[in-house]
Order: sequence, then structure tokens, then C-alpha cells
Amino acid sequence: MLPEQNPYSPGSGRRPPELVGRTGELEAFDTLRARVANGLGDRGVVLTGLRGVGKTVLLNEMHRMADRSEWLTVRIEARRDETGARAVRRALARELVVSARKLTRTRMTARMREALGTISSFNAKVGATGIELGVDLSLGRADSGDAEVDLLELVEDVALALGEGRRAFGVFVDEMQDLDSETMGALIAAQHAANQRDWPFYVIAAGLPNLPRVLTETRSYAERLFNYRQIGKFSREDATQALREPAERLGAEYSPDALEILLDAAGGYPYFIQEYGQAAWNLAGDRLVSGADAVAAVQYGTEQLDSGFFRSRWHRATPSERRMLRAMAVDGEGPSPTARVAQRMALQPSSLGPYRAALINKGLVYAPEHGQIAFTVPGMAAYVDRHHDDLDDAADDGAATD
Ligand SMILES: Nc1ncnc2c1ncn2[C@@H]1O[C@H](COP(=O)(O)OP(=O)(O)OP(=O)(O)O)[C@@H](O)[C@H]1O
Ligand SMILES: [Mg+2]
Repeated sequence: MLPEQNPYSPGSGRRPPELVGRTGELEAFDTLRARVANGLGDRGVVLTGLRGVGKTVLLNEMHRMADRSEWLTVRIEARRDETGARAVRRALARELVVSARKLTRTRMTARMREALGTISSFNAKVGATGIELGVDLSLGRADSGDAEVDLLELVEDVALALGEGRRAFGVFVDEMQDLDSETMGALIAAQHAANQRDWPFYVIAAGLPNLPRVLTETRSYAERLFNYRQIGKFSREDATQALREPAERLGAEYSPDALEILLDAAGGYPYFIQEYGQAAWNLAGDRLVSGADAVAAVQYGTEQLDSGFFRSRWHRATPSERRMLRAMAVDGEGPSPTARVAQRMALQPSSLGPYRAALINKGLVYAPEHGQIAFTVPGMAAYVDRHHDDLDDAADDGAATD
């Protein structure tokens, strides 16, 4: 069928043609929105899950819902490799000013003018942009240079002003496990204060399965502050819908055996469904994906995943870190006991530490529990198996050395 009409959307954070499942999460956020509109409080939301399950898509959807309710929103994506705290705070300030500019076009209460002053002074302090909000700086508010104090004052002023109109201030953070600990601590502390004092301020976050632990290690009370939701693979029913609906809407269909073949290959993972769906569409003849098309699509789609999704991650690891990934792959999807992985690499468990830490840093593995290690990428073990021979360190293209 025509590639230019292909409805599928493999790719990071790409909005799918059909947002399937996730009803529980969307309803929870809708309730939060409704409570804000009724002047009531609630908890922030933390979405966690493996790579490619649809956390970013869901976070973006919640962001859109918040915008539709006229919240003041900012969205940031944490990155470990970036220059850390200052860069994130600058991004926060920049987004905030851009968002706040919309408010200046409506009639403002005195409190709102003050809040804009606080935003301006926060912005001036971190030196983000020259965009003016047309109000005087609130000197002495949110401009001390101490992340926790400044964020707290900012949240207080902005949330209280928005609360007058039964709206909220929402900070959407993707990949939150990678946030520097200072900004993370400041955001959690602000959420804590907001919960206690009924300020309409919410952190809505997405991240890897270790995020809840990172949050509680940063501030122990984080455990009670958020509504934690695990985002996983689809049920067979949801997976079927994700694959079938986009094609049917365009007048195409899958034969029953094609559907089975593609769904089995995708294993319920949203990313893989999009990849195989895209391949099946491109390979099929007119309006029908046959079993033979599906077989070819699995082969083609897997090659696509191998050369992109998996390979890019494999190449982030240094040769010795790859040895560890290989030792983990012996256990399939895992998790693996770290002691066993060390043994396979002929290392003392303590010597495994630096590799483990580096791979966690790169977002390739995480520790589901103490003494365990697992891939963050579904299907990574099978990828390593498939390419056992050509993944040799000697064949490395020099992307990384140690
Ligand atoms: N609810 C859904 N229904 C159908 N497809 C989806 C859904 N959620 C996500 N997808 C598809 O899955 C893929 C991955 O989505 P997304 O980037 O949001 O995952 P992620 O969990 O943020 O991954 P990562 O951890 O790598 O950032 C995209 O191609 C997207 O279109
Ligand atoms: Mg994501």
C-alpha cells in the first residue's frame, strides 16, 4: 500500500494514529483536572516503564489536556549529559515565560501581576531569555540562586494566582530519573509544600522503572506525594486495536493469520507494533495484509529495529560495558542477579560496579531490586542473541572505547 498514506508512527514520543489503552492513566489525570476545577487538591503523577512503552506519548497527552484546561504548563526533558542543574532551570524559566505570555493577553488580577513579576525575576536570575512580560520584577522573590527556595517561591506565587481562577501550574518532566539531584529535590519539595498548603501545583513526570526509587532516595516523603502508574505492554486486545484500527480507518484490513503473526512478533510493545504495522502496510498489496505479507513485514521490521532502536543503544556502551550486556542476555529478558553476571564476566561482584553504574547512567539497564539488573529496552537480549557473531568488540565501529 502507498507509503505516503502509511498511518503508523514508530519513533520516540511520536503520537500514535490510535492512542490505545491507558484509559486508567487518562482517567486519573482527568480526575485531577476536574478536582482542580472544583478547587480541590490531588497528587502529582509519575509514569514509569521500559523503553518504548509509550510514556512520552502519554505525558504529552496529559500536557495537552492540561493546556485545554488553561493551566499554566511547562515541559522539560532531563538529560544527564547536559550541563545539569543550570541548563534545566534555564529551560524551565524559558518555557515558563513563553507560557506566561499568554496570560498577559487576558485581564489580570493583582495577584497574577505579582506572579508574573516572580516569573520575571526567576527568569532574570537564571538568565534564560530576554522575553518581557511587561511587569516589574518582584525583587527578592525566586531570585536567591538557591534552587529549592526559588522554586518554592515561584510555585507559591504562580499556583496561588492561578488558583483564583481554579486553574493549576503543571510542570511536565520527561526522563525524570536523569534530572540533577538539586532540581529534583527542589521539585519534590515544592510538590510537598503545595500538597500541604493546597496550592494547585503538580509535577507530572515520566521515566524508567527506577524513577520511584530515585525520587524517594532524593526525598523520602516522595513516596506519598505522587500517584505512581506503571506503563506496561498492551493486552492482546489493546495490541490488536493498535494494529488494526489505523488500517481499517483507511479501508485496509489484516487477514486473521497476518494479525496473529504481527502481534506475536510485537509481543505487546507499542513501539514494535508501530514498526511492524508500518512495514506490513508498505509491503502489502491492495487493501489487504496477507499472512505472507506479515511474515515479510516481521523480517523487515526486525531489521529496522536492529539497525535503529537496538543498535543505537548497543553503540552507547563501551566494549567492556557490552561484555556486561552480553552476560546479562544469557538470562533472556531478565532480570539477572548481579553476582551471576559478575561471575560470567570472571569479575568480583565489586568490580562490576563501575560498568553497572555507567550502563545505568546511559539508561540501558536499571536495578529492579537490590542485587538485580535488567535491560530497560524490551527485546534487547534477543537482539544480542541474533547478532552474537557480528557484535564482537573487534567489529566495533569505534563509537566508544574504554
Ligand atoms: N497508547 C499507544 N497506542 C499506540 N501506540 C503507542 C501508544 N503509546 C505509544 N505508542 C507508540 O509507541 C512508540 C513509543 O512511544 P514513546 O516514545 O512514548 O515511548 P517511551 O515509553 O517514552 O519510550 P522511551 O523510554 O524510549 O522514551 C511510538 O512509536 C508511539 O507512537
Ligand atoms: Mg520517552
